[in-house]
Amino acid sequence: MERTFVMLKPGVLQRRIVGEVLRRFERKGLKIIALRLLLLDRATAEAHYREHQGKDFYEKLLEYTLSGPVIALILEGEDAVSLVRRMAGPTDIREAPPGTIRGDYACRTRLNIVHASDSPASAERETALFFKPRDMVEWKDENSPWF
Ligand code: CMP
Repeated sequence: MERTFVMLKPGVLQRRIVGEVLRRFERKGLKIIALRLLLLDRATAEAHYREHQGKDFYEKLLEYTLSGPVIALILEGEDAVSLVRRMAGPTDIREAPPGTIRGDYACRTRLNIVHASDSPASAERETALFFKPRDMVEWKDENSPWF
């Protein structure tokens, strides 16, 4: 099973759609392994978005990310990284089709409401910025009628 890192950006809390977004991941069958509500500090936001440093949208991206609380979570499932990226939809909002999270809830690329790791290596790096190993909750649901 693969794990991926997801961040629900401040707009999700500001618009009171946390439940709607989490529901999509749960209904798909992804398993929540860790979850935190937090206000990011600038150093963590900079580390998280280090690959975008210097780009024209970088400062605005940080400003948005720091504008309110975020929810960081780890999801587990088969091919979780690519699955969650597909559920989130393309970064460029003009390309995000209806049915994806960005396609359904966002209309500006900078305010695209969710971040999802783009590779297993990114997932590992981003997870380490937000979580300690002891924050991961291992649980089994083999007896669930859902599966
Ligand atoms: P995210 O998946 O969090 O990763 C980097 C973020 O930068 C991205 O989502 C967008 O919020 C933002 N971003 C990427 N490209 C652009 C762009 N061209 N203009 C504005 N914001 C962007």
